Amino acid sequence: MKVGVLGLGTVGGGVVNVLRKNGDSIERRTGERIQVVLAGVRNIKQDRICDTSDIELTEDPFAVVNHPDIDVVLELIGGTELSKDLVETAINNGKHVITANKALIAKHGNELIQLANDNKVRLLFEASVAGGIPIIKALEQGLSANKIESLAGIINGTGNFILSEMKDKGRDFADALAEAQALGYAEADPTFDVEGIDSAHKLSILAAIAFGTELQFDKVYTKGISEVTAEDIRYATELGYTIKHLGIAKRAGDAIEMRVHPTLISNKQLIANVNGVMNAVLVKGDALGTSLYYGAGAGDEATASAVIADMIDIINNQTSNHILGWKSQEKLKVLDADLIESEFYMRLLVSDKRGVLAEITQIFSQNNVSIESLVQKQVDGDNNAHIAIITNKILTRDIQAVKLAIEACEFNQDSVKIIHIEPLD
Ligand code: HSE
Repeated sequence: MKVGVLGLGTVGGGVVNVLRKNGDSIERRTGERIQVVLAGVRNIKQDRICDTSDIELTEDPFAVVNHPDIDVVLELIGGTELSKDLVETAINNGKHVITANKALIAKHGNELIQLANDNKVRLLFEASVAGGIPIIKALEQGLSANKIESLAGIINGTGNFILSEMKDKGRDFADALAEAQALGYAEADPTFDVEGIDSAHKLSILAAIAFGTELQFDKVYTKGISEVTAEDIRYATELGYTIKHLGIAKRAGDAIEMRVHPTLISNKQLIANVNGVMNAVLVKGDALGTSLYYGAGAGDEATASAVIADMIDIINNQTSNHILGWKSQEKLKVLDADLIESEFYMRLLVSDKRGVLAEITQIFSQNNVSIESLVQKQVDGDNNAHIAIITNKILTRDIQAVKLAIEACEFNQDSVKIIHIEPLD
């Protein structure tokens, strides 16, 4: 198999290194030698993490997708404009394409898969979600007998690294982000990691495959981690929870929920203990029940593991190019975020005066929201107190009404913080 690579950065370099290391065993497994023969790079002279002595380098990416000898193109440059043009050209030239580009698949996957089907080539993207964890293959193959009820995952390594460092080492947000960038985990624009856009790309891909519906990235309710504070992490810990940035997709009647947001998870859940850059996806199927997939969500050789597995699938003719793994799709509406039912964590900063707690509980009761637990702490050096509350399961719009009512009160000293709680049962 002759392979052309677009991009020899972290992932492309990892692919070359893993193929050098494991090329012989892959050949024994498949009967074919995978050879990277040509690579399109931005700057031929740049230092790389891999040896390129037997690879022809070009600064013209179209030379790769138009090369007559190349069977498979690996799109590892990211972005959604040039990469889309290159992928379309490769497919129209009859080449299989493998990509790690979640933004490209989330935004343009419906049309690109159709184009690949029309051209009778494969478009595979295992590496686009959760790095090296074979979660797409698990959903398409291993879990294919199940009706998937829900999935919930830590699918951004950078965000998980930041939250873990804040909780375990008391590090500040910016410092932890800088380290994730230096380690090559973060996106070119790290706001994609921090604001949940990267997770929303990945969640929309997982949901489409799990539920057999089209990609609907623009419908994912998305909230980042930049507003999670050290106080929230401390109160959550005290109440028995860990804050994780989760992507959640669930059947809700004849609709689906798709949401990415900071989430309190009980410390008893395995996924609450997934730390650092590691990813994990919890899938609930009607036959198997709950299963958990855990591993490295980013990094050169981990992501290369998924890219190369897709090449091996092409050699073995294993993965069909249906529409996201389904022969026919179901139209599933995405539930409005206001109608999502959840338990909530709410944190308030209020004047520490007699009667304030009574007023707060009255607002809860007027909005039919019940309080399950509550912690109150005096803020050192002034007359304010933090109150952290856990509610019962209610509609998102009801907790929003409570938030607005409290923010209108004289005793309220700051915007009211609300974070979803997910039981994951
Ligand atoms: N920026 C991504 C992450 C890389 O941190 O998870 C892997 O998709």
